[in-house]
Amino acid sequence: MRINFNVPPFTGKEFDYIKECVENQKICGDGPFTAKANEWIEKKTGVSKALLTTSCTHATEMSAILAGIKEGDEVIMPSYTFVSTANAFVLRGAKVVFVDIRPDTMNIDETKIEQAITSKTKAIVPVHYAGVACEMDTIMDIAKRHNLLVIEDAAQGVMSTYKGKALGSIGDFGNFSFHETKNYSMGEGGALLLRDETYVDDAIIIREKGTNRTLYKLGKVDKYSWIEPGSSYLPSEMNAAYLYAQLEMADEINDARMDHWNRYFEALRPLEEKKLIELPVVPEGCVHNAHMFYIKCKDLEEREQLINFLKSNDILPASHYVPLHSSKAGKIYSEFRGEDRYTTRESERLLRLPMYYKLTNDDIDEVVMRVKEFYKFT
Ligand SMILES: Cc1ncc(COP(=O)(O)O)c(C=O)c1O
Repeated sequence: MRINFNVPPFTGKEFDYIKECVENQKICGDGPFTAKANEWIEKKTGVSKALLTTSCTHATEMSAILAGIKEGDEVIMPSYTFVSTANAFVLRGAKVVFVDIRPDTMNIDETKIEQAITSKTKAIVPVHYAGVACEMDTIMDIAKRHNLLVIEDAAQGVMSTYKGKALGSIGDFGNFSFHETKNYSMGEGGALLLRDETYVDDAIIIREKGTNRTLYKLGKVDKYSWIEPGSSYLPSEMNAAYLYAQLEMADEINDARMDHWNRYFEALRPLEEKKLIELPVVPEGCVHNAHMFYIKCKDLEEREQLINFLKSNDILPASHYVPLHSSKAGKIYSEFRGEDRYTTRESERLLRLPMYYKLTNDDIDEVVMRVKEFYKFT
């Protein structure tokens, strides 16, 4: 394809930083680049502790362990999300309870959460779709009144805020993704964000195979040993080095992506005014990070035609999640509580346009030109 859907972020410093790891013979986890990345996240978000992980999937699994999720518990989330949001809790024996999304942001409908709560509910998992925040004040209030934990899936939300607070720092736990498709990347990777001190010691142990090896490395104990069940959730230094090269330039990358997003938005606005397509909505109080640019077509059939048309013009768009409750595993491990008024319908209409750091204005103009051509818009 001439215009790809995604090109992984690269700033130019990544090779130098990886070389530094190799030359210093420091390639396993928790070296200087991991420490710098953790510190960057802590400063940017204000959380008590950030821990780089091997993926957002693993950060979510760690959150589920720390939250003490067990067989028979229920966890509420949207069905319009990535499988990892649900898997982390299903792996611990919980039942996933889906509620509908809002059609404007594609985020969990905060007004549908309370009616899905039972005596078995342990946590709410808001997913900040496209880096646009869920209605967190309402969600935090519900959680407080029902004594539930909030685990933010902020996989797409690095550098986004809700009423001035960083996504991932509002709930008890926050999970970031640094996958190749995200704004800042280490290939595969993520981070667990801990708002308060409460879970920090346990998280450090769980991430290091359930041992106190971190204390040993700091010279605080003579030997390290098995303390509690855990796994290996810390990434290699070489991945952290790749990531840090981008975190250092986070503002520049964010600004570039915002320029792309605004260019798409302005150029496609006339099509929305003619009611040919719908454009993304960013509610007041939310500052997003231009993680993705999507449009909504009339229906599934029109979306598929547009995908084929763009592909035939050497442009690669993408659709997104197939709602989890309609999947094979979803039918076994989950329940949709309430009406699926928007989840399926809106997901079928949504189409993501190419979006990445180094996308050029010419590329955006060409994509827009083809979308207009498809809709015979002059
Ligand atoms: C909403 C959401 N949650 C979780 C994940 C999983 O992230 P990772 O690939 O880092 O495990 C993704 C990945 O795309 C995602 O979009």
